Amino acid sequence: MKKISTNFKNQDILSLDQFDKKSIKKLFLTIDKIKKLFSSKRILNLLKGKIITLLFFEPSSRTFASFSSACKRLGGQTIEYQNPLQTSSTIKGESFSDTIQVFEQYCDLIIMRHPETGAAKKAADIASVPVVNAGDGSGEHPTQTLLDLYTVYEKFGRLNNLVILIGGDLLYGRTVHSLLKGLSIYKNNLVYLLSPKNLCLPKELFNEIKNREVKLIEIYSENDIPRNCDFWYWTRVQKERFSNIDDYEKVKNKFVITPELLEKKGNQKMIIMHPLPRVGEITIEVDKDPRAYYLRCQIKNGLLTRMALLSLIFGKK
Ligand code: NCD
Repeated sequence: MKKISTNFKNQDILSLDQFDKKSIKKLFLTIDKIKKLFSSKRILNLLKGKIITLLFFEPSSRTFASFSSACKRLGGQTIEYQNPLQTSSTIKGESFSDTIQVFEQYCDLIIMRHPETGAAKKAADIASVPVVNAGDGSGEHPTQTLLDLYTVYEKFGRLNNLVILIGGDLLYGRTVHSLLKGLSIYKNNLVYLLSPKNLCLPKELFNEIKNREVKLIEIYSENDIPRNCDFWYWTRVQKERFSNIDDYEKVKNKFVITPELLEKKGNQKMIIMHPLPRVGEITIEVDKDPRAYYLRCQIKNGLLTRMALLSLIFGKK
């Protein structure tokens, strides 16, 4: 997969493996610029004349809407396909490759979500226009991580020397897979991984990450959460990836953030993050806590991050 370094122009965005400190710094500077322009209510025409296809083969609300809004707020136009498995020629048996070859001719960039791990890479190999991975099965979700990293950076002013707790479905959760790759770019991060035993990080990914700068500690009980975390990153158990629903029922609410857990294991300077949707793993009483960033900062930063990323891919700064 092609590394980005400081040149985003016409690049596919498929995995956090493409990023290093330089590319993330460049993206953050662009987010800051977009934020300034945006808050002064300037009309942004960086994507004027561009058409972007949103091809979402899996359900999505936030990622879909935030990409759609980002394109439009930059003056671009969109072709939007949600659930093409139900609504497009795919239902008639059209191959994935044909679909991509058709859509690439209608637009300047494809943003794709797909249930299969590796599908975004497959699309990028076929398409002559750039492809942005908006989630591929239990693989990766790079733009979620970029907005998460920006949110952490905005709060703490650094992406190194952090103590982190990642909780929930670490086996199937693609946001966690990208996030760990992102955190491992920086020195001296310590990550506690809390999950039910059967939903721990895939062994291969664990070993890959372990060989980088970051230190990983797997824990299986809330009692083992250290009090000094900078942030908690919570995730939903990914029901749709289970072949047996009883297995899902057994683990779905194993770890829930409540005001009591925060009192027992949290601290005042930490923040709580979640890619959403949540389905019970953070109780709604936690929402009013100023440390809860999932319904506020992460959403706002999602839009700004995607605007910045799209303008860089189109060669605008
Ligand atoms: C996540 C996803 O789709 O991977 N949602 C999102 O895009 N913010 C998380 C999830 O579905 O649990």
